[in-house]
Amino acid sequence: MSSVNADRIPNNVHLADDKRLQRALEAWQPNFMRWWREMGPCGFQDDLVYLRTAVGVDAGDWAHFDYVKMPDYRWGIFLADPVADRTIGFGDAMGQPVWQQVPGEHRNTLRRLIVTQGDTEPASVEQQRKLGSSCPSVYDLRNLFQVNVEEGRHLWAMVYLLHSYFGRDGREEADALLQRRSGDPDRPRILGAFNEPCTDWLSFFMFAFFADRDGKFQLLALAESAFDPLSRTTRFMLTEEAHHMFVGETGVLRVVDRTAKIMAEHKKDGIDDVRKLGVIDLPTMQKYLNLWYSVSLDLFGGEISSNAASFFASGLKGRAKEEQCEDHTALSGHYAMDVPKDGSIQKEEVPLRNAMNEVLRDAYVDDCQRGVDKWNRAIASHGIPFELKLPNRRFHRHVGLYGGLWVDTQGDLLTEQQWKARRDEWLPSDADKSFVQSLMTKPISDPKQMAGWISAPKQGIKGRPVDFEYVRHGEA
Ligand SMILES: [Fe+2]
Ligand SMILES: [Fe+2]
Repeated sequence: MSSVNADRIPNNVHLADDKRLQRALEAWQPNFMRWWREMGPCGFQDDLVYLRTAVGVDAGDWAHFDYVKMPDYRWGIFLADPVADRTIGFGDAMGQPVWQQVPGEHRNTLRRLIVTQGDTEPASVEQQRKLGSSCPSVYDLRNLFQVNVEEGRHLWAMVYLLHSYFGRDGREEADALLQRRSGDPDRPRILGAFNEPCTDWLSFFMFAFFADRDGKFQLLALAESAFDPLSRTTRFMLTEEAHHMFVGETGVLRVVDRTAKIMAEHKKDGIDDVRKLGVIDLPTMQKYLNLWYSVSLDLFGGEISSNAASFFASGLKGRAKEEQCEDHTALSGHYAMDVPKDGSIQKEEVPLRNAMNEVLRDAYVDDCQRGVDKWNRAIASHGIPFELKLPNRRFHRHVGLYGGLWVDTQGDLLTEQQWKARRDEWLPSDADKSFVQSLMTKPISDPKQMAGWISAPKQGIKGRPVDFEYVRHGEA
């Protein structure tokens, strides 16, 4: 069991024993706080929020719930306990002891992997910073802030690795993580989906379902890493990430449930009729789904990737739940890939190691489908004949084999002109976005109320009622 030190930076990594590292992180801390004040949730920094704070890594007892002002949140550094005699679980060095230091030949690659993961954490806080002013309930407002503070902690997790193991380059990268800004044309965040605007709550729920789920799968793959500190830090991040999945999945579920219920009650199914009832029509939700799913698929990288092959070979990044795979070397296997060739899509056998991004994407797609099935069961329970569907994975892609192709939601190739003529059938149009925004013009700040476009959750947080005062405005 790890002991937790309650210094300025809560941690279970014996920070007090490493004065240089401690000083470096304590010097970074005020910059983080400046970033949080500037780019964190807008307008709620003095409110008391009923938040979960990680205080350790013991399975049943890792978090503490209480009211806290967000700037007083105790962002700490927590690594899952080491696994005794852990060995590398895949690739060319399979069976050898894991690394407690960064091997020189992998230094640049590992730093890049950590920076890329780390960059997504503050990016999502920036994307979501204005959502508080249109929250559908106090319960949802609290969940948004919970996700936000934990993304801040995930940034700390990556910055700890950069400071501890990558010397001066690592410190410079840690500073740069606070300097890029989501959506800023001059200094954007590294990955596309983390520069997309996320300015309404339907987008937020879709983001938490689709983009945070990419995070879950990247963390699962990094949890397999031969670099043991990375494995341990990502293993603990997954504990927090589960709540982000919950916020996305139940958020969309409550929106579709509300719409289907109102449609059934009023016996209406036309888009305009449904909108007049103050709920989001299901075809519009399908378009939001298409958008956030497709930009999230891009996060996994190219379908055929020599980088992915070398990450796997060298033990830097595995597959999700590698222990469940049969052949951990992946040297002989092949992957039947859909490859665009001469104006059509053809199957091509790709060496398995080169298809590792696609293997991870497959696991992600299956996981997404499970959530979509739940949403569809909610719609069906009201007797409404409509099914949400994941579009074909080639649709609206900007990265990899299908990047820049004009593909419809069925996966068929179109011309640019054909695609553009039908774009608004598949992706939110300006009119769709203004309609969604029109439902979310002011915050619901009475804990007893819920916006009309979303159902109440089944239960509250940590045994509290749904109408608990999860956020207390302006109290000292
Ligand atoms: Fe995160
Ligand atoms: Fe997350």
